[in-house]
Amino acid sequence: MAELRARTTPSREFRRLLGEISALMVYEVCRGFATESCEVETPLERTHGRRLARPVTVVPVLRAGLGMTSGVLSMLPDARIGHIGVRRDENTATPIAYYTRLPDDASEGPVLLVDPMLATGGSADHALGLLHAAGCRDTRFICLLAAPEGVARIHTSHPQVPIYAAALDRELDDRKYIHPGLGDAGDRCFGT
Ligand code: PRP
Ligand code: URA
Repeated sequence: MAELRARTTPSREFRRLLGEISALMVYEVCRGFATESCEVETPLERTHGRRLARPVTVVPVLRAGLGMTSGVLSMLPDARIGHIGVRRDENTATPIAYYTRLPDDASEGPVLLVDPMLATGGSADHALGLLHAAGCRDTRFICLLAAPEGVARIHTSHPQVPIYAAALDRELDDRKYIHPGLGDAGDRCFGT
C-alpha cells in the first residue's frame, strides 16, 4: 500500500500493485460463499470435493475498477464480468453515469463490485443502486482506500452491503480527494 501511494510509483508498477492487492483481498471477501459437494474421480478412486454453489460476478466501476479486475479474476477465474461506467463531475464531485452492462443472470450469485477508491461514496452508491435494481441481493464492495464519509454513506444507503477496504484513510479535502490517499486512481492506472 505504501508503494501504491508513493507519487514516484509509475503506472506500470501502480497497475501491478493494484492487481496484486486486489487478489489478496479476495480471500477475505469470499469467506462465507456457499459451496456444495461434488464427486471427483482421482486416478485412484472416486471421492468427494466442494465447489462454489452459485456463479460469481465481478463488476468493475470504470475506469479505475478495471485495474483491479485481473487480480480478482486470478482468484475467481470462472467469474462473469459486468461493467458500470461512472465518473465524478470535476466541479461538484457528483457521479455522472455513462455505461451499464451486466450479465443477465448476475442476480443468481454473489456480485463483487470493485473500485479502488471510496471517497464521497457517490459512485459506489450509484453502482450498488443499479445492481440492486437488477435483482442482485448478495453484493459486496471491494476498494483499496476508503474515506470515512464514503463508508458512512454506503452504510446508510445500502446497509446490507459489506465494504472491504485495504485501508481506511483520514478525510476528504475540499475537492473531495482522499487524504493521505494516492491521488487520482484512474489517471495513475492509465497514465492520463
Ligand atoms: C474515481 C474512483 C471512484 C470515484 C470515487 O473515479 O475510481 O469511481 O472516483 O469517488 P466518489 O466516492 O466520491 O464517487 P473517477 O470519477 O475519477 O473516474 P475515473 O475512474 O474514470 O477516473
Ligand atoms: N477518486 C480518486 O481517484 N481519488 C480520490 O482521492 C478520490 C476520488
